[in-house]
Amino acid sequence: MRTKFKAWAEPYINEHTEVMLKGEDLATMKDFVLEIGSGKGQFLVLMSQKFPTMQFVGIEKNVTCSGFTAKKLVENEVKNAKLIFDDAERVLVNVKDNSIDTIFLNFSDPWPKKRHTKRRLTCERFLNEYFRVLKEGGNLIIKTDNDDLFAYSKEMFEASKFTIVSCTTDYDGKEEFDSITEYEENFRSVNKNINRMVLKK
Ligand SMILES: C[S@@+](CC[C@H](N)C(=O)[O-])C[C@H]1O[C@@H](n2cnc3c(N)ncnc32)[C@H](O)[C@@H]1O
Repeated sequence: MRTKFKAWAEPYINEHTEVMLKGEDLATMKDFVLEIGSGKGQFLVLMSQKFPTMQFVGIEKNVTCSGFTAKKLVENEVKNAKLIFDDAERVLVNVKDNSIDTIFLNFSDPWPKKRHTKRRLTCERFLNEYFRVLKEGGNLIIKTDNDDLFAYSKEMFEASKFTIVSCTTDYDGKEEFDSITEYEENFRSVNKNINRMVLKK
């Protein structure tokens, strides 16, 4: 499902700095929840509404998706969630060690070709960064429709410093600290099983 380019997205992001952060801003932040690959922002908005005392940050590298997210944050008058329009790899280097409560990876791009393995958000390079930036006891939570990406990710987690807390290939969507994403809605509407894993630092 490729998002069709919208020319309004970049001007909208530039105009609505009240809902945007830059990667460098994370250098002085701690105690927040991070979503990597926020897509069109439904998860970010629902979570920030459900947990109004928590701070949420989304990272999204696609300009049109970022535009949709910024628009949702503005129109819903969300104050406790911000978006960074950038690549997670460039952003994460700014984050201090042991500063994030939870990282969510929701329906990450699967990059099925072997030569693209290093682009997967659960490859070793990213897992090392997640481990560094998460607090002791902090969680990394992955949800995906893609069974191959899930199997690959499980192998990577087993070889990492994370502890697997829970793992299911048929997630019912009922965990309290969670919300449904746009992709999840689509996959649930055609009865595709959803995989979910929770890892602890
Ligand atoms: C398949 S979509 C899922 C969107 C949303 N999480 C959902 O579940 O509806 C994956 C999103 O992750 C973004 N993404 C992939 N790699 C990224 C990276 N390295 N940094 C930031 N965003 C990334 C893509 O641009 C895309 O919008």
